[in-house]
Amino acid sequence: MKTLLIASILMMFAAGSNAQEFPELAVKHGCTTCHAMEQKLKGPAWRDIAVQYRNKKDFVYSGRQYSLEDGLVRKVSFGGRSNWGHAIMKPNDMDELQQDDIRQLVRFILQLADSP
Ligand code: HEC
Repeated sequence: MKTLLIASILMMFAAGSNAQEFPELAVKHGCTTCHAMEQKLKGPAWRDIAVQYRNKKDFVYSGRQYSLEDGLVRKVSFGGRSNWGHAIMKPNDMDELQQDDIRQLVRFILQLADSP
């Protein structure tokens, strides 16, 4: 399973002309309306998020502690604010029907800390 996910992330890279391009899934789910890879838009730059959480293991969402990946999946799914400022991230997967996609996107973001 893990290998499969890593393989699909690598495929997302191969599909773009360089490693910094947004994966299809990010466009499909509307992430690109608020996020850019290197600059802050409405939301923080994805690379800044990766750097921020580089050595972190946990993430608190709505007062509950999760593993970093699970916590970010919840935050992206149900939305939130205050970790980066006042802007709000609206819910992106309220019905939890796209959890595999959201998880792949979170993994993509987190690995940006180590990509060129
Ligand atoms: C409506 C604009 C908007 C959309 C659409 C959006 N985001 Fe965000 N995102 C934000 C804002 C604003 C923040 C900062 C929230 C905060 O300060 O806690 C954020 C924060 C994040 C974070 C960091 C969370 C934290 O607490 O550190 C991740 C990861 C993230 N977004 C991923 C995504 C993904 C993946 C998508 C697409 C499925 C997406 N975002 C769609 C606005 C958006």
